[in-house]
Amino acid sequence: PNPHSELVASRLRDVADFPKQGVVFKDITPLLGDGHAFREVIRGLAARHTGSPSRIDAVAGVEARGFIIGAALALELGVGFVPVRKAGKLPGDTVQRSYDLEYGTATIEVHSDAVADGDRVLLVDDVLATGGTAIAAWDLLTSCGAEVVGFETIVELAFLGGRVALGDRPVHALHVVGGVEGA
Ligand code: PRP
Ligand code: MG
Repeated sequence: PNPHSELVASRLRDVADFPKQGVVFKDITPLLGDGHAFREVIRGLAARHTGSPSRIDAVAGVEARGFIIGAALALELGVGFVPVRKAGKLPGDTVQRSYDLEYGTATIEVHSDAVADGDRVLLVDDVLATGGTAIAAWDLLTSCGAEVVGFETIVELAFLGGRVALGDRPVHALHVVGGVEGA
């Protein structure tokens, strides 16, 4: 068993029927609230990208929970952070991408100059569910000239098929729910 997977599992809280009936919400706030566990998890993600040959120029994270993980990881790796925001929040010129939700659509955006051509960007979020958010963020950053080198998440809900939806894009999760643990 992977120690990081077990640590995440021990600090995840299942909340039944949130945000709606029949959904079990995977709440990471117990993990965030435990300074030791939070640091261990960030170090676990960082260790996979420290040293050659996998140079990272920046970490990108998706509003809102991806900011928490992504900013901490950027700090640990000593690189900048690119906020991928929900539409309408960034003041400068932006590039947008829309994606389907169960009901309706969502739009995310980054500043047009957030990444330089060829920048190697690591995309992070707290949870991989259907993959819609990660794919939209990945493709948005790519359209800005970034080379997105991978998607890192704390929790993967394998039964929702995000990894399959992401196709060839490299995906890593510290903890997998409903799949092979510690993959
Ligand atoms: C949640 C989660 C991921 C996304 C995963 O974000 O933080 O970003 O859903 O789902 P998907 O793989 O099906 O796209 P959400 O926008 O619900 O809320 P947040 O603003 O709290 O991050
Ligand atoms: Mg989110």
